[in-house]
Amino acid sequence: MTQLKLRKPSWMMASVLVSLLCVAGTASAQSLQVKQWAASCSACHGTDGYSEGGMASLAGQKKADIIEKMNEYKSGKRVASIMHQLSKGYSAEQIEQIAEYFASLPHEKPVAKSK
Ligand code: HEC
Repeated sequence: MTQLKLRKPSWMMASVLVSLLCVAGTASAQSLQVKQWAASCSACHGTDGYSEGGMASLAGQKKADIIEKMNEYKSGKRVASIMHQLSKGYSAEQIEQIAEYFASLPHEKPVAKSK
Protein backbone atom coordinates (compact mmCIF):
# COMPACT_ATOMS: atom_id res chain seq x y z
CA MET A 1 0.00 0.00 0.00
CA THR A 2 2.74 2.37 0.94
CA GLN A 3 4.53 1.64 -2.30
CA LEU A 4 1.40 2.31 -4.32
CA LYS A 5 0.98 5.64 -2.61
CA LEU A 6 4.54 6.56 -3.47
CA ARG A 7 4.19 5.59 -7.10
CA LYS A 8 1.13 7.66 -7.80
CA PRO A 9 2.83 11.03 -7.68
CA SER A 10 5.62 9.86 -9.98
CA TRP A 11 3.07 8.77 -12.59
CA MET A 12 1.44 12.14 -12.28
CA MET A 13 4.80 13.80 -12.73
CA ALA A 14 5.43 11.69 -15.80
CA SER A 15 2.18 12.74 -17.42
CA VAL A 16 2.87 16.37 -16.57
CA LEU A 17 6.29 16.03 -18.15
CA VAL A 18 4.87 14.38 -21.25
CA SER A 19 2.34 17.15 -21.74
CA LEU A 20 5.04 19.77 -21.20
CA LEU A 21 7.19 18.08 -23.83
CA CYS A 22 4.28 18.12 -26.26
CA VAL A 23 3.82 21.85 -25.79
CA ALA A 24 7.56 22.46 -26.26
CA GLY A 25 7.53 20.24 -29.33
CA THR A 26 4.81 22.26 -31.03
CA ALA A 27 6.52 25.54 -30.24
CA SER A 28 9.85 24.49 -31.71
CA ALA A 29 8.20 22.96 -34.78
CA GLN A 30 6.52 26.31 -35.41
CA SER A 31 9.70 28.31 -34.98
CA LEU A 32 11.54 25.89 -37.26
CA GLN A 33 8.92 26.56 -39.93
CA VAL A 34 9.32 30.32 -39.52
CA LYS A 35 13.11 29.99 -39.66
CA GLN A 36 12.77 28.11 -42.93
CA TRP A 37 10.59 30.86 -44.39
CA ALA A 38 13.07 33.45 -43.14
CA ALA A 39 15.97 31.46 -44.61
CA SER A 40 14.62 32.12 -48.11
CA CYS A 41 14.90 35.86 -47.42
CA SER A 42 18.52 35.31 -46.35
CA ALA A 43 19.54 34.50 -49.92
CA CYS A 44 19.33 38.21 -50.70
CA HIS A 45 19.08 39.95 -47.33
CA GLY A 46 21.99 38.10 -45.71
CA THR A 47 22.16 35.16 -43.30
CA ASP A 48 19.60 35.70 -40.50
CA GLY A 49 18.72 38.97 -42.21
CA TYR A 50 22.13 40.57 -41.63
CA SER A 51 23.15 42.09 -44.93
CA GLU A 52 26.81 42.37 -45.73
CA GLY A 53 26.17 45.57 -47.59
CA GLY A 54 24.13 46.90 -50.47
CA MET A 55 20.94 45.15 -49.43
CA ALA A 56 18.73 46.24 -46.55
CA SER A 57 19.15 44.19 -43.37
CA LEU A 58 15.92 42.70 -42.05
CA ALA A 59 17.24 41.71 -38.62
CA GLY A 60 16.25 44.15 -35.91
CA GLN A 61 13.73 46.04 -38.04
CA LYS A 62 10.44 46.75 -36.28
CA LYS A 63 7.80 44.06 -36.83
CA ALA A 64 5.22 46.64 -37.89
CA ASP A 65 7.66 48.18 -40.40
CA ILE A 66 8.42 44.85 -42.08
CA ILE A 67 4.71 44.02 -42.31
CA GLU A 68 3.93 47.47 -43.72
CA LYS A 69 6.68 47.24 -46.34
CA MET A 70 5.63 43.73 -47.37
CA ASN A 71 1.99 44.85 -47.70
CA GLU A 72 3.04 47.87 -49.73
CA TYR A 73 5.05 45.60 -52.04
CA LYS A 74 2.03 43.32 -52.35
CA SER A 75 -0.31 46.16 -53.27
CA GLY A 76 2.22 47.78 -55.61
CA LYS A 77 2.30 50.97 -53.52
CA ARG A 78 6.03 50.46 -52.95
CA VAL A 79 7.99 50.30 -56.20
CA ALA A 80 10.26 47.26 -56.40
CA SER A 81 12.30 45.17 -58.77
CA ILE A 82 11.74 41.88 -56.93
CA MET A 83 9.76 42.26 -53.73
CA HIS A 84 6.42 43.06 -55.40
CA GLN A 85 6.47 39.51 -56.80
CA LEU A 86 8.03 37.77 -53.85
CA SER A 87 5.72 39.31 -51.25
CA LYS A 88 2.69 37.86 -53.04
CA GLY A 89 3.92 34.37 -52.21
CA TYR A 90 3.29 34.84 -48.49
CA SER A 91 0.01 35.00 -46.59
CA ALA A 92 -0.64 37.73 -44.03
CA GLU A 93 -0.02 35.21 -41.23
CA GLN A 94 3.27 34.09 -42.76
CA ILE A 95 4.42 37.69 -43.19
CA GLU A 96 3.48 38.44 -39.59
CA GLN A 97 5.48 35.48 -38.30
CA ILE A 98 8.49 36.22 -40.51
CA ALA A 99 8.38 39.88 -39.40
CA GLU A 100 8.20 38.79 -35.76
CA TYR A 101 11.21 36.56 -36.27
CA PHE A 102 13.40 39.26 -37.82
CA ALA A 103 12.22 41.83 -35.27
CA SER A 104 13.26 39.49 -32.45
CA LEU A 105 16.88 39.53 -33.63
CA PRO A 106 19.29 42.22 -32.42
CA HIS A 107 19.81 45.06 -34.90
CA GLU A 108 23.57 44.61 -34.86
CA LYS A 109 24.89 41.22 -35.91
CA PRO A 110 26.17 39.44 -32.80
CA VAL A 111 29.95 39.04 -32.94
CA ALA A 112 30.91 35.39 -33.27
CA LYS A 113 32.78 34.18 -30.21
CA SER A 114 36.21 32.72 -30.89
CA LYS A 115 36.87 29.36 -29.32
C1 HEC B 1 15.82 37.44 -54.75
C2 HEC B 1 16.28 38.35 -53.72
C3 HEC B 1 15.35 38.66 -52.56
C4 HEC B 1 14.75 37.77 -51.71
C5 HEC B 1 14.79 36.26 -51.74
C6 HEC B 1 14.04 38.57 -50.72
N1 HEC B 1 14.21 39.90 -50.98
FE1 HEC B 1 13.45 41.44 -49.89
N2 HEC B 1 14.32 42.77 -51.14
C7 HEC B 1 15.03 42.44 -52.30
C8 HEC B 1 15.32 43.65 -53.06
C9 HEC B 1 16.09 43.71 -54.38
C10 HEC B 1 14.77 44.71 -52.33
C11 HEC B 1 14.71 46.19 -52.72
C12 HEC B 1 13.34 46.43 -53.35
C13 HEC B 1 13.23 45.75 -54.72
O1 HEC B 1 13.84 46.21 -55.67
O2 HEC B 1 12.49 44.74 -54.82
C14 HEC B 1 14.17 44.13 -51.12
C15 HEC B 1 13.57 44.86 -50.12
C16 HEC B 1 12.95 44.33 -49.00
C17 HEC B 1 12.39 45.06 -47.88
C18 HEC B 1 12.48 46.56 -47.69
C19 HEC B 1 13.77 46.82 -47.01
C20 HEC B 1 13.85 48.18 -46.42
O3 HEC B 1 14.02 48.25 -45.23
O4 HEC B 1 13.72 49.14 -47.19
C21 HEC B 1 11.84 44.18 -47.04
C22 HEC B 1 11.11 44.48 -45.72
C23 HEC B 1 12.07 42.87 -47.59
N3 HEC B 1 12.75 42.98 -48.77
C24 HEC B 1 11.64 41.72 -46.98
C25 HEC B 1 11.91 40.45 -47.48
C26 HEC B 1 11.44 39.24 -46.85
C27 HEC B 1 10.63 39.19 -45.56
C28 HEC B 1 11.89 38.21 -47.61
C29 HEC B 1 11.63 36.73 -47.43
C30 HEC B 1 10.26 36.33 -47.31
C31 HEC B 1 12.65 38.79 -48.72
N4 HEC B 1 12.62 40.15 -48.60
C32 HEC B 1 13.29 38.05 -49.70
C33 HEC B 1 15.42 41.18 -52.69
C34 HEC B 1 15.01 40.00 -52.09
